[in-house]
Parts: sequence; structure tokens; C-alpha cells
Amino acid sequence: MKLAGDVLDELLIGARDNGWATADGVSLAQLRSDAGRLRFHVHKVRTGPVSPEIDVLTPTPQDKAAARSLSAVYGVGPQPLHTDGAHHEDPPDVLFFSCDEVSAVPTLLLPMARPASGPLGFDFRHGLFTVASGKGGFLAPAWTQAGKVRYDPGCMTAADDRASRVSKFMELRLVDGSPTPFTWDTPGRVLAINNRTVLHARGDASSETDRVLKRMAVRVHTWPDTPTAQQGSAS
Ligand SMILES: [Fe+2]
Repeated sequence: MKLAGDVLDELLIGARDNGWATADGVSLAQLRSDAGRLRFHVHKVRTGPVSPEIDVLTPTPQDKAAARSLSAVYGVGPQPLHTDGAHHEDPPDVLFFSCDEVSAVPTLLLPMARPASGPLGFDFRHGLFTVASGKGGFLAPAWTQAGKVRYDPGCMTAADDRASRVSKFMELRLVDGSPTPFTWDTPGRVLAINNRTVLHARGDASSETDRVLKRMAVRVHTWPDTPTAQQGSAS
């Protein structure tokens, strides 16, 4: 049986190299414990004034949703693809999700390859969005110079023509991009997603409003070394 720390390393390497990865037989609480002891810092994605390091996510109707959240716009229906923690100046690198029960509501995944150089690439790097963050806000592009994506139409509004072109591109990409559905068919399975290269979204939860997903978001300061015999664990 693998140690949780080894599973954590494999999940991080899989997310870094392949966009997402899965593991069984380990809980988010165990991963959280190792995250605290090992090499990366847990970055809390705050959903309110006080939020735990492991969030419990349930489909939320529009009238009960927090302002500027996706639920405030989409309720329990299908979400648009997005990154989590986009309202943070330094968003989390990796998201760990788990579902204790089987769920028919998929999590949709779409890798975002870096836009080609040229006008669109320039727009991605230099078009500015106003990012709503708490009582204030800040300006940020959809791509950093390091090629990391930040995109959440719930809290980001185009502030110039370049960003407007990015929004239009993303809307088309989200429709035509053929995201990969991840099905929660194994109780307790952990899904790790690279939050800086892969967009995700919850499918339509209107017929399963009691669905419960746990989430832990982390910022990685030092990635694990890839073992020489490492086998990819991406799904
Ligand atoms: Fe999300």
C-alpha cells in the first residue's frame, strides 16, 4: 500500500505533466496532512469570510449563492468552464476534488493550450480584465508571462478591447472545445487538476442537488521530482 505522501507526489506530477490525475484509497484530509508536512503550501480558496482548507461544495441555487460566484449566475445548472480562485492575485496551482458517493454529475475538463503567438497571443498576455476580489479589485490578463491561465467569467470583466477579444475566443472555445467529462463513478476517488493549464466546470446538477464534492486548493512552491520509473496517472 502506498503512503499518502507518495500518492500526493504522483497526483502533483500527473497534474503538472498531464493536466489532471486520479488516485484511490486516500482522503483529502490525508493529503492535507502531507501537504502541511511536505513541500507545498496550502492556499485556501476562500468562499466566504472564513472558509476551511477543505471546502464542502454543493449545488447552490441562485438566490442562496455568494455575489460574483458562478452559482449566482448559473445556480444548479451547468457551469461555464473556468479556473478556481481567479479572484486571488496568485491563484492556486492544483485543485484536489473528491466525492464520497457516486455522482451522475460530471466534472468537465478542458486543457487550454497557450494561444499561438501573433495578435491573439498578444491579446491574451496584454488584454486586461477587471477581477472582482472582495471589496476591491485588480487588473489582470488571462495569461501570465509564465503561461498560466486565469479565467472565470463570474468574477472577471473585460476592461479593454484586447480582453473583449479574449472573452469572445474563450466563449467559442468553451462551446467548441469538446471538454473531457470526468465521471464520479468510484466513491472516494481523488481528482487532481492543474488549475493553471486546465479549465473545469460542473455539469448540470439540477437533478442531483444533494451532490457533495470536497475541494482542497494548493499553491505549489516546489514540485516533486519525477521518479525515473514514474508511470503517468492521468485519466
Ligand atoms: Fe470551480
